[in-house]
Amino acid sequence: MKLVDAKDVAVHFPIKGGVIFDKTVGYVYAVDGMDLQIEEGETYGLVGESGCGKSTFGRALLWLDEPTGGSVTIDGDDLATLSKESLRRKRKDMQMVFQDPLSSLDPRQTVESLLLEGMAAHGLAKDKKAANTRLRELLAAVGLPPQALSKYPHEFSGGQRQRVGIARALSVDPKLIVADEPVSALDVSVQAQVINLLEDLQEQFGLTYLVISHDLAVVRHISDRVGVMYLGALVEEAHADDLYAAPLHPYTRALMSAVPVPDPTAEDTRERLLLTGDLPSPANPPSGCRFHTRCPWKQATRCDTERPQLRSVSIDGIPETHRVACHFAEGIFDGSLTEHEVEAVAVDPAATGTPDEGDLFQHGSISEL
Ligand SMILES: Nc1ncnc2c1ncn2[C@@H]1O[C@H](COP(=O)(O)OP(=O)(O)O)[C@@H](O)[C@H]1O
Ligand code: SF4
Ligand SMILES: [Mg+2]
Repeated sequence: MKLVDAKDVAVHFPIKGGVIFDKTVGYVYAVDGMDLQIEEGETYGLVGESGCGKSTFGRALLWLDEPTGGSVTIDGDDLATLSKESLRRKRKDMQMVFQDPLSSLDPRQTVESLLLEGMAAHGLAKDKKAANTRLRELLAAVGLPPQALSKYPHEFSGGQRQRVGIARALSVDPKLIVADEPVSALDVSVQAQVINLLEDLQEQFGLTYLVISHDLAVVRHISDRVGVMYLGALVEEAHADDLYAAPLHPYTRALMSAVPVPDPTAEDTRERLLLTGDLPSPANPPSGCRFHTRCPWKQATRCDTERPQLRSVSIDGIPETHRVACHFAEGIFDGSLTEHEVEAVAVDPAATGTPDEGDLFQHGSISEL
Protein backbone atom coordinates (compact mmCIF):
# COMPACT_ATOMS: atom_id res chain seq x y z
CA MET A 1 0.00 0.00 0.00
CA LYS A 2 1.17 3.52 -0.78
CA LEU A 3 1.76 5.49 2.41
CA VAL A 4 3.11 8.62 0.73
CA ASP A 5 1.86 9.97 -2.57
CA ALA A 6 3.29 13.33 -3.59
CA LYS A 7 2.13 14.63 -6.94
CA ASP A 8 3.70 17.53 -8.80
CA VAL A 9 4.63 19.22 -5.51
CA ALA A 10 5.94 22.78 -5.73
CA VAL A 11 7.29 25.07 -3.04
CA HIS A 12 8.02 28.53 -4.43
CA PHE A 13 9.30 31.01 -1.85
CA PRO A 14 8.53 34.63 -2.73
CA ILE A 15 11.50 36.99 -2.91
CA LYS A 16 10.53 40.29 -1.37
CA GLY A 17 12.13 43.53 -2.39
CA GLY A 18 11.85 46.36 -4.85
CA VAL A 19 11.07 49.96 -4.13
CA ILE A 20 7.76 49.31 -2.46
CA PHE A 21 8.43 47.24 0.63
CA ASP A 22 7.04 43.71 0.59
CA LYS A 23 6.64 43.61 -3.14
CA THR A 24 7.29 40.16 -4.55
CA VAL A 25 10.04 40.50 -7.13
CA GLY A 26 10.52 36.83 -7.91
CA TYR A 27 10.45 33.32 -6.52
CA VAL A 28 12.90 30.75 -5.28
CA TYR A 29 11.74 27.59 -7.04
CA ALA A 30 13.03 25.39 -4.21
CA VAL A 31 10.77 22.47 -5.14
CA ASP A 32 9.25 22.42 -8.58
CA GLY A 33 7.43 19.36 -9.86
CA MET A 34 8.29 16.61 -7.36
CA ASP A 35 6.49 13.30 -7.87
CA LEU A 36 7.30 10.68 -5.29
CA GLN A 37 5.54 7.65 -3.86
CA ILE A 38 6.63 5.58 -0.88
CA GLU A 39 5.20 2.17 -0.05
CA GLU A 40 4.35 1.29 3.53
CA GLY A 41 7.43 -0.15 5.27
CA GLU A 42 9.76 1.10 2.56
CA THR A 43 12.86 3.27 2.94
CA TYR A 44 13.18 5.87 0.25
CA GLY A 45 16.50 7.68 0.02
CA LEU A 46 16.53 11.19 -1.42
CA VAL A 47 19.92 12.52 -2.52
CA GLY A 48 21.26 15.60 -4.23
CA GLU A 49 23.74 18.36 -3.54
CA SER A 50 23.14 21.06 -0.97
CA GLY A 51 20.53 23.60 -2.04
CA CYS A 52 18.65 21.36 -4.48
CA GLY A 53 15.48 21.39 -2.37
CA LYS A 54 15.61 18.15 -0.36
CA SER A 55 14.81 19.66 3.03
CA THR A 56 12.10 21.87 1.59
CA PHE A 57 10.48 18.84 0.01
CA GLY A 58 10.71 16.88 3.29
CA ARG A 59 9.06 19.76 5.09
CA ALA A 60 6.38 20.04 2.42
CA LEU A 61 5.55 16.34 2.83
CA LEU A 62 4.90 16.95 6.53
CA TRP A 63 3.07 20.18 5.75
CA LEU A 64 5.66 22.27 7.62
CA ASP A 65 6.31 24.32 4.48
CA GLU A 66 2.92 24.33 2.83
CA PRO A 67 3.34 23.45 -0.84
CA THR A 68 2.40 26.17 -3.30
CA GLY A 69 1.36 23.55 -5.84
CA GLY A 70 0.56 19.86 -6.24
CA SER A 71 -0.79 17.47 -3.64
CA VAL A 72 0.47 15.37 -0.77
CA THR A 73 -1.52 12.32 0.30
CA ILE A 74 -0.40 10.48 3.44
CA ASP A 75 -2.10 7.20 4.27
CA GLY A 76 -5.08 8.09 2.13
CA ASP A 77 -5.56 11.64 3.42
CA ASP A 78 -4.94 14.54 1.05
CA LEU A 79 -3.30 16.96 3.51
CA ALA A 80 -4.74 20.02 1.77
CA THR A 81 -8.27 18.87 2.57
CA LEU A 82 -7.72 18.38 6.32
CA SER A 83 -9.05 20.84 8.87
CA LYS A 84 -6.52 22.44 11.22
CA GLU A 85 -7.45 20.03 13.99
CA SER A 86 -7.35 16.96 11.72
CA LEU A 87 -3.95 18.04 10.45
CA ARG A 88 -2.74 18.44 14.03
CA ARG A 89 -3.87 14.92 14.83
CA LYS A 90 -2.37 13.64 11.59
CA ARG A 91 1.04 14.94 12.70
CA LYS A 92 1.20 12.03 15.13
CA ASP A 93 1.65 9.77 12.09
CA MET A 94 4.40 11.82 10.43
CA GLN A 95 7.47 12.82 12.34
CA MET A 96 10.82 14.35 11.50
CA VAL A 97 14.37 13.61 12.62
CA PHE A 98 16.77 16.50 12.08
CA GLN A 99 20.41 16.73 11.19
CA ASP A 100 21.58 18.54 14.26
CA PRO A 101 19.99 17.03 17.36
CA LEU A 102 21.36 19.77 19.60
CA SER A 103 19.60 22.58 17.80
CA SER A 104 16.38 20.64 17.29
CA LEU A 105 16.04 19.78 21.00
CA ASP A 106 15.21 22.44 23.57
CA PRO A 107 18.38 22.68 25.73
CA ARG A 108 16.40 23.61 28.87
CA GLN A 109 14.31 20.45 28.88
CA THR A 110 15.32 17.07 30.28
CA VAL A 111 14.98 14.07 28.01
CA GLU A 112 11.93 13.02 30.03
CA SER A 113 10.14 16.30 29.44
CA LEU A 114 11.21 16.38 25.77
CA LEU A 115 9.68 12.97 25.21
CA LEU A 116 6.56 13.59 27.30
CA GLU A 117 5.87 16.87 25.49
CA GLY A 118 5.24 15.19 22.16
CA MET A 119 3.27 12.36 23.74
CA ALA A 120 1.08 14.78 25.73
CA ALA A 121 0.27 16.78 22.58
CA HIS A 122 -1.29 13.64 21.15
CA GLY A 123 -2.98 12.44 24.35
CA LEU A 124 -0.48 9.65 24.92
CA ALA A 125 0.62 10.70 28.41
CA LYS A 126 -2.71 10.72 30.27
CA ASP A 127 -1.98 7.64 32.35
CA LYS A 128 1.20 8.49 34.24
CA LYS A 129 2.22 4.91 34.90
CA ALA A 130 1.71 3.83 31.32
CA ALA A 131 3.61 6.90 30.10
CA ASN A 132 6.53 6.06 32.38
CA THR A 133 6.67 2.51 31.08
CA ARG A 134 6.57 3.86 27.56
CA LEU A 135 9.44 6.27 28.22
CA ARG A 136 11.61 3.40 29.42
CA GLU A 137 10.66 1.28 26.45
CA LEU A 138 11.52 4.13 24.09
CA LEU A 139 14.93 4.63 25.64
CA ALA A 140 15.65 0.91 25.49
CA ALA A 141 14.56 0.87 21.85
CA VAL A 142 17.10 3.56 20.94
CA GLY A 143 19.83 2.06 23.12
CA LEU A 144 19.94 4.56 25.98
CA PRO A 145 19.90 3.70 29.71
CA PRO A 146 16.92 4.75 31.90
CA GLN A 147 19.14 7.31 33.68
CA ALA A 148 19.16 9.32 30.44
CA LEU A 149 15.65 10.55 31.29
CA SER A 150 16.88 13.08 33.86
CA LYS A 151 19.66 14.46 31.65
CA TYR A 152 19.77 17.50 29.37
CA PRO A 153 20.66 17.35 25.66
CA HIS A 154 24.12 18.90 26.15
CA GLU A 155 25.10 16.09 28.50
CA PHE A 156 25.12 13.60 25.63
CA SER A 157 27.54 12.89 22.81
CA GLY A 158 26.38 13.67 19.25
CA GLY A 159 25.40 10.08 18.56
CA GLN A 160 23.47 9.76 21.83
CA ARG A 161 21.71 13.04 21.13
CA GLN A 162 20.58 11.73 17.78
CA ARG A 163 19.21 8.70 19.66
CA VAL A 164 17.20 11.12 21.80
CA GLY A 165 15.96 12.87 18.66
CA ILE A 166 14.89 9.53 17.23
CA ALA A 167 13.19 8.55 20.50
CA ARG A 168 11.28 11.80 20.40
CA ALA A 169 10.05 11.12 16.88
CA LEU A 170 9.11 7.57 17.92
CA SER A 171 7.34 8.66 21.09
CA VAL A 172 4.06 9.38 19.31
CA ASP A 173 4.07 6.06 17.45
CA PRO A 174 4.35 7.48 13.92
CA LYS A 175 3.93 5.66 10.60
CA LEU A 176 6.27 7.87 8.57
CA ILE A 177 9.59 9.37 9.62
CA VAL A 178 11.33 11.95 7.47
CA ALA A 179 14.98 11.88 8.52
CA ASP A 180 16.75 14.96 7.13
CA GLU A 181 20.51 14.35 7.04
CA PRO A 182 20.20 12.19 10.18
CA VAL A 183 23.91 11.33 10.39
CA SER A 184 25.60 14.23 8.60
CA ALA A 185 26.60 15.95 11.84
CA LEU A 186 28.05 12.76 13.35
CA ASP A 187 31.52 11.23 13.33
CA VAL A 188 31.91 8.61 10.64
CA SER A 189 32.35 5.91 13.30
CA VAL A 190 29.00 6.81 14.87
CA GLN A 191 27.13 7.20 11.57
CA ALA A 192 26.89 3.45 10.98
CA GLN A 193 25.50 2.87 14.49
CA VAL A 194 22.72 5.38 13.98
CA ILE A 195 21.92 4.01 10.52
CA ASN A 196 21.75 0.48 11.97
CA LEU A 197 19.50 1.75 14.74
CA LEU A 198 17.13 3.30 12.21
CA GLU A 199 17.00 -0.03 10.37
CA ASP A 200 16.31 -2.00 13.55
CA LEU A 201 13.55 0.38 14.58
CA GLN A 202 11.95 0.13 11.18
CA GLU A 203 11.67 -3.62 11.56
CA GLN A 204 10.48 -3.41 15.13
CA PHE A 205 7.83 -0.74 14.59
CA GLY A 206 6.95 -1.18 10.92
CA LEU A 207 8.07 2.34 10.05
CA THR A 208 8.23 3.97 6.63
CA TYR A 209 11.20 6.27 6.01
CA LEU A 210 12.16 9.10 3.78
CA VAL A 211 15.90 9.47 4.40
CA ILE A 212 17.37 12.68 3.02
CA SER A 213 21.10 13.01 2.52
CA HIS A 214 23.64 14.76 0.32
CA ASP A 215 25.76 11.65 0.85
CA LEU A 216 25.13 8.81 -1.59
CA ALA A 217 26.98 6.34 0.62
CA VAL A 218 24.54 6.91 3.51
CA VAL A 219 21.50 6.52 1.31
CA ARG A 220 22.81 3.46 -0.47
CA HIS A 221 23.18 1.49 2.71
CA ILE A 222 19.73 2.09 4.10
CA SER A 223 17.41 2.59 1.11
CA ASP A 224 15.15 0.24 -0.80
CA ARG A 225 14.71 2.87 -3.48
CA VAL A 226 16.67 6.00 -4.21
CA GLY A 227 15.62 9.25 -5.84
CA VAL A 228 18.18 11.72 -7.13
CA MET A 229 17.09 15.34 -6.96
CA TYR A 230 18.43 18.28 -8.93
CA LEU A 231 17.12 21.85 -8.69
CA GLY A 232 13.71 21.04 -7.27
CA ALA A 233 12.79 17.79 -9.00
CA LEU A 234 13.80 14.16 -9.42
CA VAL A 235 16.17 13.36 -12.27
CA GLU A 236 16.39 9.62 -11.59
CA GLU A 237 14.68 7.00 -9.46
CA ALA A 238 15.33 3.27 -9.03
CA HIS A 239 15.76 0.42 -6.60
CA ALA A 240 19.03 1.12 -4.81
CA ASP A 241 20.93 -1.78 -6.36
CA ASP A 242 19.71 -0.93 -9.87
CA LEU A 243 20.72 2.70 -9.48
CA TYR A 244 24.21 1.91 -8.28
CA ALA A 245 24.68 -0.81 -10.90
CA ALA A 246 23.71 1.43 -13.80
CA PRO A 247 23.28 5.12 -13.10
CA LEU A 248 21.60 6.60 -16.19
CA HIS A 249 21.40 10.34 -15.62
CA PRO A 250 24.60 12.35 -16.17
CA TYR A 251 24.03 14.06 -12.83
CA THR A 252 23.77 10.73 -10.98
CA ARG A 253 26.93 9.56 -12.71
CA ALA A 254 28.73 12.70 -11.60
CA LEU A 255 27.51 12.30 -8.02
CA MET A 256 28.62 8.70 -7.96
CA SER A 257 32.01 9.40 -9.40
CA ALA A 258 32.61 11.71 -6.45
CA VAL A 259 32.14 8.89 -3.92
CA PRO A 260 35.37 6.98 -3.24
CA VAL A 261 35.09 3.18 -3.30
CA PRO A 262 36.91 1.00 -0.75
CA ASP A 263 38.51 -1.36 -3.31
CA PRO A 264 41.81 0.24 -4.50
CA THR A 265 41.77 -1.33 -7.99
CA ALA A 266 38.20 -0.24 -8.56
CA GLU A 267 39.12 3.14 -7.11
CA ASP A 268 41.88 3.52 -9.71
CA THR A 269 39.72 2.64 -12.67
CA ARG A 270 36.38 4.11 -11.76
CA GLU A 271 34.86 6.82 -13.89
CA ARG A 272 35.52 10.31 -12.67
CA LEU A 273 33.17 12.94 -13.84
CA LEU A 274 33.51 16.30 -12.28
CA LEU A 275 30.61 18.66 -12.02
CA THR A 276 31.53 21.89 -13.69
CA GLY A 277 30.29 25.14 -12.24
CA ASP A 278 28.03 25.81 -9.28
CA LEU A 279 24.47 24.72 -8.78
CA PRO A 280 22.46 27.32 -10.70
CA SER A 281 20.23 29.52 -8.59
CA PRO A 282 16.79 28.07 -7.90
CA ALA A 283 15.52 31.64 -8.31
CA ASN A 284 16.52 31.51 -11.94
CA PRO A 285 16.57 27.85 -12.98
CA PRO A 286 17.88 26.96 -16.46
CA SER A 287 15.32 26.38 -19.18
CA GLY A 288 14.57 22.93 -20.56
CA CYS A 289 16.60 20.30 -18.76
CA ARG A 290 17.79 22.01 -15.59
CA PHE A 291 21.06 20.15 -15.79
CA HIS A 292 21.93 21.38 -19.27
CA THR A 293 24.33 24.08 -18.03
CA ARG A 294 26.53 21.41 -16.47
CA CYS A 295 25.84 18.36 -18.63
CA PRO A 296 28.78 16.86 -20.57
CA TRP A 297 26.27 15.17 -22.93
CA LYS A 298 24.12 18.22 -23.66
CA GLN A 299 22.78 18.07 -27.22
CA ALA A 300 22.02 20.95 -29.58
CA THR A 301 18.32 20.14 -29.63
CA ARG A 302 15.78 19.64 -26.84
CA CYS A 303 18.18 19.93 -23.87
CA ASP A 304 17.76 23.66 -23.35
CA THR A 305 14.17 23.92 -24.54
CA GLU A 306 12.21 20.89 -23.36
CA ARG A 307 12.06 19.82 -19.73
CA PRO A 308 12.52 16.03 -19.62
CA GLN A 309 9.99 14.00 -17.62
CA LEU A 310 10.87 11.00 -15.48
CA ARG A 311 10.40 7.98 -17.76
CA SER A 312 11.26 4.30 -18.11
CA VAL A 313 13.87 3.52 -20.77
CA SER A 314 14.09 0.83 -23.41
CA ILE A 315 17.49 -0.55 -22.51
CA ASP A 316 18.11 -4.29 -22.06
CA GLY A 317 18.51 -5.19 -18.40
CA ILE A 318 17.13 -1.91 -17.05
CA PRO A 319 13.84 -2.57 -15.24
CA GLU A 320 10.75 -0.43 -15.76
CA THR A 321 11.01 0.80 -12.17
CA HIS A 322 14.28 2.53 -13.06
CA ARG A 323 13.25 5.92 -14.40
CA VAL A 324 15.27 8.86 -15.61
CA ALA A 325 14.58 12.43 -16.70
CA CYS A 326 16.94 12.77 -19.66
CA HIS A 327 16.01 12.98 -23.35
CA PHE A 328 19.14 11.12 -24.38
CA ALA A 329 19.55 8.46 -21.66
CA GLU A 330 19.68 5.57 -24.17
CA GLY A 331 22.41 7.13 -26.32
CA ILE A 332 24.45 8.07 -23.26
CA PHE A 333 24.11 4.56 -21.87
CA ASP A 334 25.14 2.72 -25.04
CA GLY A 335 27.97 5.13 -25.73
CA SER A 336 26.64 6.38 -29.07
CA LEU A 337 26.72 9.88 -27.60
CA THR A 338 30.04 10.96 -26.21
CA GLU A 339 30.77 13.49 -23.55
CA HIS A 340 32.29 16.85 -24.24
CA GLU A 341 33.80 19.64 -22.20
CA VAL A 342 31.44 21.86 -20.30
CA GLU A 343 32.16 25.54 -20.11
CA ALA A 344 31.67 26.72 -16.56
CA VAL A 345 28.89 29.26 -16.41
CA ALA A 346 29.38 31.73 -13.61
CA VAL A 347 26.40 31.99 -11.32
CA ASP A 348 25.45 35.60 -10.73
CA PRO A 349 25.30 35.95 -6.95
CA ALA A 350 23.01 38.97 -7.30
CA ALA A 351 20.48 36.76 -9.04
CA THR A 352 20.27 34.13 -6.32
CA GLY A 353 17.78 36.13 -4.31
CA THR A 354 18.04 33.67 -1.46
CA PRO A 355 17.33 35.15 1.93
CA ASP A 356 19.57 34.31 4.86
CA GLU A 357 17.04 32.12 6.60
CA GLY A 358 17.36 29.69 3.70
CA ASP A 359 20.82 28.85 4.99
CA LEU A 360 19.48 28.20 8.44
CA PHE A 361 16.96 25.75 7.09
CA GLN A 362 19.73 23.84 5.41
CA HIS A 363 21.10 23.04 8.83
CA GLY A 364 17.80 21.83 10.17
CA SER A 365 17.81 24.18 13.13
CA ILE A 366 14.13 24.85 12.85
CA SER A 367 13.35 24.92 16.54
CA GLU A 368 15.79 27.77 17.01
CA LEU A 369 13.93 30.03 14.65
N1 LIG B 1 12.21 29.73 3.87
C1 LIG B 1 12.88 29.93 2.75
N2 LIG B 1 12.76 31.07 2.05
C2 LIG B 1 13.43 31.27 0.90
N3 LIG B 1 14.26 30.37 0.34
C3 LIG B 1 14.42 29.20 0.97
C4 LIG B 1 13.75 28.91 2.22
N4 LIG B 1 14.12 27.66 2.60
C5 LIG B 1 14.98 27.21 1.66
N5 LIG B 1 15.16 28.13 0.69
C6 LIG B 1 16.00 27.99 -0.52
O1 LIG B 1 15.48 26.90 -1.29
C7 LIG B 1 16.55 26.17 -1.87
C8 LIG B 1 16.49 24.74 -1.44
O2 LIG B 1 16.85 24.65 -0.09
P1 LIG B 1 16.84 23.31 0.76
O3 LIG B 1 15.52 22.67 0.62
O4 LIG B 1 17.28 23.64 2.13
O5 LIG B 1 17.93 22.44 0.01
P2 LIG B 1 18.74 21.15 0.50
O6 LIG B 1 18.06 20.60 1.71
O7 LIG B 1 18.72 20.22 -0.66
O8 LIG B 1 20.13 21.61 0.80
C9 LIG B 1 17.83 26.88 -1.47
O9 LIG B 1 18.18 27.79 -2.47
C10 LIG B 1 17.43 27.60 -0.20
O10 LIG B 1 18.25 28.70 0.03
S1 SF4 C 1 18.40 16.03 -21.24
FE1 SF4 C 1 20.26 16.78 -22.23
S2 SF4 C 1 21.16 18.22 -20.78
FE2 SF4 C 1 19.67 16.99 -19.68
S3 SF4 C 1 20.82 15.34 -18.78
FE3 SF4 C 1 20.04 14.58 -20.74
S4 SF4 C 1 21.64 15.04 -22.24
FE4 SF4 C 1 22.11 16.23 -20.40
MG1 LIG D 1 18.83 20.20 3.62
